[in-house]
Amino acid sequence: MKIAIGNDHAAVEMKQEIKAYLESKGYEVINFGTDTNASCDYPEFGEKVGRAVASGEADYGITICGTGIGIGIAAGKVKGVRVCTCSEPYSARLSRMHNNTNVLSFGARVIGVEMAKMIVDEWLNNEYEGGRHQRRVDMLMEIENH
Ligand code: RB5
Repeated sequence: MKIAIGNDHAAVEMKQEIKAYLESKGYEVINFGTDTNASCDYPEFGEKVGRAVASGEADYGITICGTGIGIGIAAGKVKGVRVCTCSEPYSARLSRMHNNTNVLSFGARVIGVEMAKMIVDEWLNNEYEGGRHQRRVDMLMEIENH
């Protein structure tokens, strides 16, 4: 499974930790983020992750900035992307099961790396349930057509 990862200057170390963690679990990680602490603009990296997921280049995406908010908004602007920005595992799990999210976002200035790993695990290890949720996810995606 391929995971696109992207980050701005606020999340270089967090990205590197999460990338190594994912690789240790056998995931292939495509790095779209910055690797320097020089100030940069999170929309660029969120968009790259969103496009990689929407095109099928990656199965899922993970975006990280200071709060996880800006870069998550950017990824979610790409057609076909559903983002979960969160700081705890419960929302990450439910976002997979009910909302079929394909990008996970969190903030390097909000949570620590161990919480981030727990969130990533919960997100990747839960499947979309479909069923009664499909109509609502279809409604979400329909919004993109107007
Ligand atoms: C950068 O200072 C910061 O604004 C960014 O990492 C992020 O938190 C934006 O949402």
